[in-house]
Amino acid sequence: MQVQQVGVVGCGLMGSGIAQVCAQSGYQVVVREVNPDLLERGLARIDKFLTGGVEKGKLTADEKRQALARLRGATELGELKDCDIVIEAATENVDLKREIFTTLDRLCKPHALLASNTSSICIAEMAGATKRPSQVLGMHFFNPVPIMKLVEVVRALTTSDATLAAGLEFARSLGKTPIVAKDTPGFVVNLLLVPYLLNAVSALEMGIATKEDIDQGMVLGCGHPMGPLTLLDFVGIDTTYYIANILFDEFKDSRYAAPTLMKRMVLAGHHGRKTGRGFYDYTAK
Ligand code: 3HC
Repeated sequence: MQVQQVGVVGCGLMGSGIAQVCAQSGYQVVVREVNPDLLERGLARIDKFLTGGVEKGKLTADEKRQALARLRGATELGELKDCDIVIEAATENVDLKREIFTTLDRLCKPHALLASNTSSICIAEMAGATKRPSQVLGMHFFNPVPIMKLVEVVRALTTSDATLAAGLEFARSLGKTPIVAKDTPGFVVNLLLVPYLLNAVSALEMGIATKEDIDQGMVLGCGHPMGPLTLLDFVGIDTTYYIANILFDEFKDSRYAAPTLMKRMVLAGHHGRKTGRGFYDYTAK
């Protein structure tokens, strides 16, 4: 399959990163957000990241300009009708995603592939909302998308060999390294990462060490780029809580049971960097 135009649904943290990487890889990109305000914020995030890249010498000002010229914002799903592949990165809500997939299926050309960046929702459920289930797959990126090299390419029961191969090729064309995962909650990375993050919260809850020492332990003891509590603030405590609940619902295994402290933090709105407060305080930054 020859991909020329890529659609991205959602211009939040993940969607903006995916749109940026696609535009930088030479594709014409249409990124859709639900309203002009959110769209503007997402496009500003891309601009800021590219400007940072120019300052760091990672790309030239001209490359930045070219990437931005390939990127178009939209607020209607209809604007994605000519895309060869659409990557959905909307809110993690299964009903919303099914609705988006049904609409995309109706709008897009017969050859188009429909992918979801979901971290935990069943791909087959989204495929089932379309009349092209063999052309639906998961493409799960990692935060921050322009920096993290991995894409989990997820094969649902309905995904065809050709769709999987095209997904792998597309991920490579973005400069990413794909791994193939089955359509089970958490795929590979979150299946392993989430219990580790939950254990870090439990360790804090039990008073085993301070938050700083828990983080320092994993950075200096295991060479992780960030400690688990810093990573939770980075990814979003609410997002991780949501994923943990999906894993728990599916496996009924206490490894995925969110600690009490985590639930309280979510309820209190302490979601991490995005709300200014998580395990650490970001209001001063
Ligand atoms: N443009 C281009 N490159 C940039 C850039 C920019 N605006 N900003 C930074 N970079 C580059 C840097 O130059 C550097 O490249 P180099 O290694 O070639 O020198 C690299 O990105 C790292 O940047 P920094 O040195 O400025 O930053 P840090 O060293 O502090 O790293 C981090 C930041 C990459 C976020 C690192 O802390 C990290 O890897 N943390 C872990 C992130 C992680 O685990 N993500 C996955 C979360 S799970 C997930 O997403 C799944 C979901 O489902 C929940």
